[in-house]
Amino acid sequence: MRDEQTQTQRPQWGSRLGFILAAAGSAVGLGNIWKFPYITGENGGGAFVAVYLVSIAVVGLPIMLAETLLGRMGQSSTVGTYAKLSSPRSGWVLAGWLGVLAAFMMLSFYSVVAGWTLHYVWLALSGGLTAVDAEHLPAVFNALRSDGPVNIAWHVAFMALTMIIVLGGIQRGLERAARVLMPALLGMLAGLLLYCTGLDGFGPAFDFVFGFHAEALTRDGVLEALGHSFFTLSLGMGAMLTYGSYMRQRDDFITTSIAITLLDTGVALMACLVLFPITFSYGMEPSAGPGLVFQNIPVALSTLPGASSLTVIFFLLLTFAALTSAISLLEVVCAYFIDERGWTRRQATLVLGGAITLFGVPSALSMSAAPFMADEHGLVGRNWFDSLDYLVSNWMLPLGGLLTALFMAWRVGDEARRVAFDRGTSLGGAGQVYLAWLQLLRFLVPITIALVMLHAVGAL
Ligand code: TRP
Repeated sequence: MRDEQTQTQRPQWGSRLGFILAAAGSAVGLGNIWKFPYITGENGGGAFVAVYLVSIAVVGLPIMLAETLLGRMGQSSTVGTYAKLSSPRSGWVLAGWLGVLAAFMMLSFYSVVAGWTLHYVWLALSGGLTAVDAEHLPAVFNALRSDGPVNIAWHVAFMALTMIIVLGGIQRGLERAARVLMPALLGMLAGLLLYCTGLDGFGPAFDFVFGFHAEALTRDGVLEALGHSFFTLSLGMGAMLTYGSYMRQRDDFITTSIAITLLDTGVALMACLVLFPITFSYGMEPSAGPGLVFQNIPVALSTLPGASSLTVIFFLLLTFAALTSAISLLEVVCAYFIDERGWTRRQATLVLGGAITLFGVPSALSMSAAPFMADEHGLVGRNWFDSLDYLVSNWMLPLGGLLTALFMAWRVGDEARRVAFDRGTSLGGAGQVYLAWLQLLRFLVPITIALVMLHAVGAL
């Protein structure tokens, strides 16, 4: 009875483009512009980028297809989909729960970083960035990082924005926001890239990003590259599954997933080719860590006419990119309580958004308040913020992806899977593509993830 209701009343994207924009909006976020360049810098460049690109192609894309297809078949949140396609008492339901938990944890620190971008919008607006030169920008960033109350205030502000959009629901909230903001971000990034090709540092930067310097890559680096391919494509916790469940059944999910993957990877590489030329031109460090984008962009823009407005625009767009990602994280958590527990969207958004905001406070304090900042007190030899990032990005997402692959390949009924697959693609000869994809999910994807994990713990 309730099932029938959810079937007919379940919200949907208004159009295929709406899904593409919202899913791309989820994928393209701080992961591409803030995180990818700085972890590339920390891991020595080229070899790390190569492992990341391979992970995107052989692991990321097949899992993205699996997630969107599971969402269409289950027509439910991540927990509900696992329950429906196996059985409510099955252990697979835990895989859904893992996703809800990961989304909850991730949003709590993601929002802190998004808060920094808001702070930089404000700094640029109030002229606080134009007066400083390259040497002092790290100090500006460190001052922000270690100012607890300011971190909390921006984190709360960003969570409030996220909650307002999620309250608006699927079409009016999520889709409308992505439709405007994504193209603006892309345009701005392309403009910056053009400018950076003219810098002296472009040559060395290009070599840093695309030259294969294998010696720089560590065990943890390989795991990080794999984990990041999940992070950046919004995989491994059921976000694409949830978004896929709102997709109209007749829309093609294969070309859509490919488009999203290409767009996401393109933005990440563009961000590197913007940030590293600046790094090398101004004698800064590629391994500057989480402050990289916050230190480089103001320097590069400072030489241009209208520097402060450009800086405002850049950080505003970065905030928007973060927002379209954050709403997908909150949506994963809310969808469970709406679909499975019968909460209203309003209840779910306010209660869960509020809980995530509270849970994010230690992350906001990770550079200023003793209990959360000490590396040795943190969970895994890192401060609170870094511990959460490490656990979620490097372990929970790949594990979630592994379970998604195994579930789709070995547990879901072949007939139902084939029908759903056929219905959802305009690629002729779905037979071949289908079989190739299934083989990847059966063997290559899970084995690769398992090997990388074993390698990371030193067992290989
Ligand atoms: N992909 C986003 C980024 O790159 C982050 C993100 C949003 C995410 N939703 C997700 C990551 C779901 C994993 C799962 O910034």
